[in-house]
Amino acid sequence: MNDMTVPNPSTATRVPPPAPLGMLAELTHRCPLSCPYCSNPVDLEKRSLELDTEIWKRVFSEAAAMGVLHLHLSGGEPTARRDIVELTAHAVKVGLYTNLITSGIGVTYDKLKELADAGLDHVQLSIQDALPDNADRIAGLKGAHEKKRILAGQVLELGLPLTINAVIHRANIENIEALVNMALEFGARRVEIAHSQYYGWALENRNMLMPTREQVMAAAATVERLREELQGKLVIDAVVPDYYARLPKPCVGGWGKQSLNVTPQGKVLPCHAAETIPHLVFDYVTDKSLSEIWEHGSAFEAYRGTSWMKEPCTSCPRKEIDFGGCRCQALAITGDPANADPACSLSPFHAKITSLALKAADSGKTDYVYRSFGGVEGRPKVQITRNNGAPV
Ligand code: SF4
Ligand code: FES
Repeated sequence: MNDMTVPNPSTATRVPPPAPLGMLAELTHRCPLSCPYCSNPVDLEKRSLELDTEIWKRVFSEAAAMGVLHLHLSGGEPTARRDIVELTAHAVKVGLYTNLITSGIGVTYDKLKELADAGLDHVQLSIQDALPDNADRIAGLKGAHEKKRILAGQVLELGLPLTINAVIHRANIENIEALVNMALEFGARRVEIAHSQYYGWALENRNMLMPTREQVMAAAATVERLREELQGKLVIDAVVPDYYARLPKPCVGGWGKQSLNVTPQGKVLPCHAAETIPHLVFDYVTDKSLSEIWEHGSAFEAYRGTSWMKEPCTSCPRKEIDFGGCRCQALAITGDPANADPACSLSPFHAKITSLALKAADSGKTDYVYRSFGGVEGRPKVQITRNNGAPV
């Protein structure tokens, strides 16, 4: 990684960026499930480090004041926070549209009703598979699937709109039609067919999760057919997975452009995997206001806009469309987050991502490294420090 390009903040744009549309609040990394593709970092933040109620409420007020519209209450499992109803009520009070992103485990009917009464706008429920035993194996918890089914019924009973989110990988890609039918049966208005993205836990599990190209192509055809058949009944969101794409997606809608993440201990990130980029320095909501971090934080300025780009992006007509794709994937595959996302066929590393996909899909491995607070065996833990260098 010696040749990694570290952007010079003095050359980054100083024009204040427009407000983000959405904020993902990772209220806690605690979760009853252990999914091997979890988007949380490999070094999970402990309960003792979590922000308290008043700080989260202040952050929500700041988010609303700066123009954020959507607040995604996430985790881990956000309902593991005892103050989830108070936090939701506050977010509603300050005018944010609230979306609860839940595993559905440990959420009682009474709790859900309290959330609905507090003004919760929407529920997004994750489903691991349509086959209960396989779903429980992927989630790492026996009986999880049945609890999700029950929760979906309660969400409908309370009149809340429901989206089903299914992360797709080798162990469930052949069941997409059944997953979509299950979303319909659950009464969802939308289903997200979200192919696993290979950072953090999913990168550790790439050999166990990667589907074959044939499976991906068949899945895409199934989604297209179902979209036609279910028009007006169910919205199906799906994109081609990066390792089999020819054009990259504008990851997080462009770095520092549309969204931000706040971790359980208050670190503010441009995307959920930003901590994998080692030279970035992150600010904390306990030290600075959210708007100051969004507008001037060095991690946000590092890859905002297009001035940090290298060829082939610099001279590419798509650079304002996809913003060079994903910085975290560029780092993971090419060693430099300022390179074009290797999902792009113009990237000199495109052949590498293709061969990694083939190798991983052919590995025949099935034993997951489940998400846990112990991190990954044999990997040194990241020393967490504040932006002023003080230990947390
Ligand atoms: Fe996007 Fe860069 Fe590829 Fe152009 S060269 S399509 S800007 S990743
Ligand atoms: Fe970090 Fe794509 S996940 S930019």
